[in-house]
Amino acid sequence: MEFKQVIGRRRAIRFFLPHRPVERQKIEKMLEAARRASCVGNVNSARGIVIWKDQASAQLIKTITPPLGYQQMQTAPCFILWYHDTSAYEITKWVQDLKNLADTRRIGTDVDETKAEIDRLLKPVFGAAWQQMAVSPLAFMDLGLAVCQAMLIAYDEGLGVCPMSSPRLEQVGKLLKLPDTAVPVCLMAVGYPAESWEAGGQTVKAPFDNLFHEMEYGRAFERDPAVEKELVAAGMLQAPAPLPWRDAELKYLENALKLERRIIAFPAPDPAPADGGS
Ligand SMILES: Cc1cc2nc3c(=O)[nH]c(=O)nc-3n(C[C@H](O)[C@H](O)[C@H](O)COP(=O)(O)O)c2cc1C
Repeated sequence: MEFKQVIGRRRAIRFFLPHRPVERQKIEKMLEAARRASCVGNVNSARGIVIWKDQASAQLIKTITPPLGYQQMQTAPCFILWYHDTSAYEITKWVQDLKNLADTRRIGTDVDETKAEIDRLLKPVFGAAWQQMAVSPLAFMDLGLAVCQAMLIAYDEGLGVCPMSSPRLEQVGKLLKLPDTAVPVCLMAVGYPAESWEAGGQTVKAPFDNLFHEMEYGRAFERDPAVEKELVAAGMLQAPAPLPWRDAELKYLENALKLERRIIAFPAPDPAPADGGS
């Protein structure tokens, strides 16, 4: 698939074919794409654990289940728990990673001088701050970039995914034998979509003008109508949700997959009575 079309066809998938396994090779390609992602100083802090549902204990599945994940947890045959490993930022390792970039001619123009500069200027600064930097927004961006690349490969391979967030993920460390330096971030359901690839249309996004600025905040980045036309032709911009037949598709999915009509994965606490209760 052309790259722009992969971006256009990607949308969160929440209904999967439970009976169709995901090929191990396809998961490997996703992981390889994650490994290829850009990251701070090439420290490679993005990590993942593949969880095959048919091999997982009921306790593990219960623990990883996110609140807004009923349909995905019922139907997806595979999950990836993405986590950030703060140990990748440990100063001695980090400095070595930078020096490896110098050795492989990926930073600097002279190997010895670049390495000396790393020791003289970067090592003292990073040495004082690496623990904070290991949990900074930038560090988690590493994981986001890796997850994004894995996600796009999934669609290129005919799969669908849904990234999911949950405070419960903090509890999975022991069950998955994660090291203390691991910060679980996101659970991703992976499988063959039970939905049509359109999944009811492309997800509607916030207006472009509200998001992107030029030179200063408040001055919207001016768009060229020809670009929109080009991206429509390339399949990156597609018919928005909901397509006219989406309600019928959702009813069909609900019946075919024998799903309850809800999105919350476990019983929510009873809402407090309107008068505050007593
Ligand atoms: C970090 C992250 C966490 C998410 N958590 C959930 C979730 O818990 N449950 C869910 O149904 N969707 C979840 N999503 C999917 C988003 O709702 C979805 O990406 C968003 O509506 C935009 O739609 P799109 O992915 O189709 O563009 C999450 C997405 C991301 C990136």
